[in-house]
Amino acid sequence: MTVLLSDQRVVHTSEDVVAVRQAVRQRAVELGFNLVDQTKIVTAASELARNTVQYGGGGQVTIEGIERLGRRGLRLTFEDKGPGIADIEMAMRDGFTTGSGLGLGLSGARRLSNEFQIESQPGQGTRVVITRWR
Ligand SMILES: Nc1ncnc2c1ncn2[C@@H]1O[C@H](COP(=O)(O)OP(=O)(O)OP(=O)(O)O)[C@@H](O)[C@H]1O
Ligand SMILES: [Mg+2]
Repeated sequence: MTVLLSDQRVVHTSEDVVAVRQAVRQRAVELGFNLVDQTKIVTAASELARNTVQYGGGGQVTIEGIERLGRRGLRLTFEDKGPGIADIEMAMRDGFTTGSGLGLGLSGARRLSNEFQIESQPGQGTRVVITRWR
């Protein structure tokens, strides 16, 4: 797998969430994603960035354009050093929330991505990696 481009952004405020959405959209356009796929990855990014702000206490995202076996994709890695998630399986369920949301962010982001990984240690933080292929 080759990394074609990579950039990192802070994710601390709702303005940062908007900036992440715009950056992901721009990268998706550059990689030749069609409008539907652009919207899928932007929506997933938006949900994960909101979680980073709301539950993770802020963090960062790494946006990478990648190529594997001649296929291009966009990989997004959200990381925070917040409280972490005690029960990931439960957190992934539709409708599960510890806040006032709908509990659809993580499950939605997984559905909108081709690859989805989540790692979290209580007291250490959370890392979510998603990839959408062109
Ligand atoms: N980065 C994170 N750090 C700690 N806990 C998290 C993080 N992301 C998600 N969670 C936990 O997982 C739960 C489910 O997240 P999810 O995004 O699916 O729903 P939500 O944010 O509660 O609601 P919605 O996204 O629909 O507004 C959250 O309520 C929270 O408890
Ligand atoms: Mg959420």
